Amino acid sequence: MQTLVFTNDVAGELVRRIDEAQAYGTYALADSNTARLVWNRLVECRPELGAVKLIVIPAGDMNKNIDSLTHIWSELQGMGANRHSLMLNVGGGMVTDIGGFAASTFKRGMRFMNVPTTLLGAVDAAVGGKTGINFGGLKNEVGVFNEAEAVVISTCVFSSLPQMELYSGYAEMVKHGLLEGNEALSRLLEYDPVSADYDRLLSLLEESVGVKRRVVSEDPFEKGLRKSLNLGHTVGHAFESLAMEKGCPVPHGYAVAWGIVVELVLSHMQKGFPSDCLRRISDYVRLHYGTPAVGCNDYPRLLELMHHDKKNLDARINFTLLEAPGVVALDCTADENEIMTAMDIFRDLMSI
Ligand code: GLY
Repeated sequence: MQTLVFTNDVAGELVRRIDEAQAYGTYALADSNTARLVWNRLVECRPELGAVKLIVIPAGDMNKNIDSLTHIWSELQGMGANRHSLMLNVGGGMVTDIGGFAASTFKRGMRFMNVPTTLLGAVDAAVGGKTGINFGGLKNEVGVFNEAEAVVISTCVFSSLPQMELYSGYAEMVKHGLLEGNEALSRLLEYDPVSADYDRLLSLLEESVGVKRRVVSEDPFEKGLRKSLNLGHTVGHAFESLAMEKGCPVPHGYAVAWGIVVELVLSHMQKGFPSDCLRRISDYVRLHYGTPAVGCNDYPRLLELMHHDKKNLDARINFTLLEAPGVVALDCTADENEIMTAMDIFRDLMSI
């Protein structure tokens, strides 16, 4: 099983793990931001890390593509890596996704570890073995399931993140709290991610990543239970794409936070999800994530986007819903009228 390490001494942990790994050469992959803001600082902290050969790719999800992948393979080849070498992916979801894919395919697979540098990456992308690149205009179109042998998670690397990035990652933690149950959810809603209490955040993160790890260990290839991690994402992805089309992109986690509220409204309508908890979540989301720029004129496009969701098996729109916190209903569907009613209630709750 994948080793998860929660520490605020990342540099020391990496030195220990590289030493133990006895690999045939160690490589670090970073993007142009994390090379400067994180990797260089880790090397300053522990100069032994200077012996690790650094590969840098341009930052941004638009660079999670075949060109960056080819660049990584060429660098590995040029520097003589083999399948006994070790790669450290140091970055957000973009770096851990493409780095995991590059390592899984180079020489039919070399060893790799993830060092997430964003809260979103730590709670989601770095853990659970989904790797890949965008292709042909579609996100995560080509990739493999393959878990990093270890994920080294620290909250002190988040100190340079903008507030919006922290809230964006925290939405996925709230999602995990909803999947886990009332107590885990309450602990999350009592904390404000920008309060900069990195020790508290580390312990909440450990609990939250534990939820994802349990789900993934039961269903690594998303045949059943892993679909629960899609809570909030059917509507969330539609909000995210709509905002992009309107030329005002929103962070992934903001779209997911709004998507969670709409899908909890649907959960209330179909599965009796408790209204007091729905109200609590919608208040939290309104306070920390604001409100999306959507009116009823946007409903037809939002529905179209939901129809294109790759989770749908047929013409119906697929949802993960909840009967209550901790009680998941997989493979649910809703017709267009129900979704539009849920959107109306969502807009009331959010005072749009
Ligand atoms: N991001 C959801 C999953 O890893 O399955």
